Amino acid sequence: MKLLILVGTTTQTAECVAQAIEMDCTDLCPDIEVRLMDGLDISVFDEPALFLICSATYGTGDVPDNAQHLYASLGNEPKYLGHVKYGVMSLGDEGAYPQTFAMGGRNFDARLQDLGAHRLGDLWTHDASGDEAPEESGVAWCRNWLATHLPALQAAAAS
Ligand SMILES: Cc1cc2nc3c(=O)[nH]c(=O)nc-3n(C[C@H](O)[C@H](O)[C@H](O)COP(=O)(O)O)c2cc1C
Repeated sequence: MKLLILVGTTTQTAECVAQAIEMDCTDLCPDIEVRLMDGLDISVFDEPALFLICSATYGTGDVPDNAQHLYASLGNEPKYLGHVKYGVMSLGDEGAYPQTFAMGGRNFDARLQDLGAHRLGDLWTHDASGDEAPEESGVAWCRNWLATHLPALQAAAAS
């Protein structure tokens, strides 16, 4: 099963996290694609894949500019996404924006859940004010996430 990482970013931290996953997790999932959210809409969820939303946060708890079209289409062109399984990686800065910390990914999560999609596992968050390197902790989280959830999905797809 393909892992499709959809990236919402402005200054490329989220993209670097996704690229690190693409490089370091192929032993767990040989087919990983990193795709920037620019120009995407809800139809991306028609693709057969396990989805990973990897989004930063801007404005006052908004998704980044390159994610606005996809995020809006989940509200403007709603359709049932009961077949979709996804995870969320959300980047923010708790020190500078405590009220809206990591809302970018949380906003996607809320809309996807409204449309019937199934989140696997807890959200991963990264705090730019903290000490953790986003690529390192993001890869560690994703390895555990894939190891926990992918085998059952692959078994179901094969049966
Ligand atoms: C103008 C601006 C607004 C931001 N607003 C928020 C916010 O509301 N909440 C939050 O948690 N982080 C906020 N951030 C922090 C970014 O989400 C964080 O630095 C993130 O790692 C950037 O990811 P990127 O490099 O992929 O764009 C903001 C950063 C900037 C520069």
